[in-house]
Amino acid sequence: MKRENTIDIRAVMRYFADGVTIVTGVSRKGDLFGITVTSFTSVSLSPPLVLVCIANSASATKMIKDSRRFCVNLLTADQKDLSERFAYVEESKRFLGVKYKIGRTGSPILEDSCGYIDCTLFKWTKAGDHTIFLGNPIDVYAEGKLPLIYYNRGYYTICDNA
Ligand SMILES: Cc1cc2nc3c(=O)[nH]c(=O)nc-3n(C[C@H](O)[C@H](O)[C@H](O)COP(=O)(O)O)c2cc1C
Repeated sequence: MKRENTIDIRAVMRYFADGVTIVTGVSRKGDLFGITVTSFTSVSLSPPLVLVCIANSASATKMIKDSRRFCVNLLTADQKDLSERFAYVEESKRFLGVKYKIGRTGSPILEDSCGYIDCTLFKWTKAGDHTIFLGNPIDVYAEGKLPLIYYNRGYYTICDNA
């Protein structure tokens, strides 16, 4: 009989500080979507590849598989409200009053963030209850604003050198 692994990785991962992003995109029908995501990392330099990891149940997962593009927006310390909005507000209302422009892939680029990585989908793979999306960046921008950090279920920013 297969024994279930009951280890709760959240008990450890909550003490790993993450930058906060909003992954945005547009469906083939033209509907915008966005979701708050901390599971984001660079993967390869040549070719350049990044990944985001999104719950199978999130509508963004279906949308990215279908549209094959997404943009990772890096949030600043002032954008905690956007992080909460794109996690908890009803999907159809998330972009109401939010300032953005349309990027090269057609995905929304949020105004006043630290930067963005606009990607076409390289490949995806299901991993347990999440899906890993590997993106091929086609347009990037960043400026040295203070980032929003998520740690132990709270929001922080950088205040000192180690
Ligand atoms: C700080 C923070 C980080 C999050 N990181 C992720 C993540 O990396 N992947 C993910 O699938 N959901 C993450 N979530 C949860 C989703 O943002 C949330 O469940 C989602 O917006 C629900 O979207 P849906 O209504 O389309 O399912 C995070 C939420 C917060 C507040």
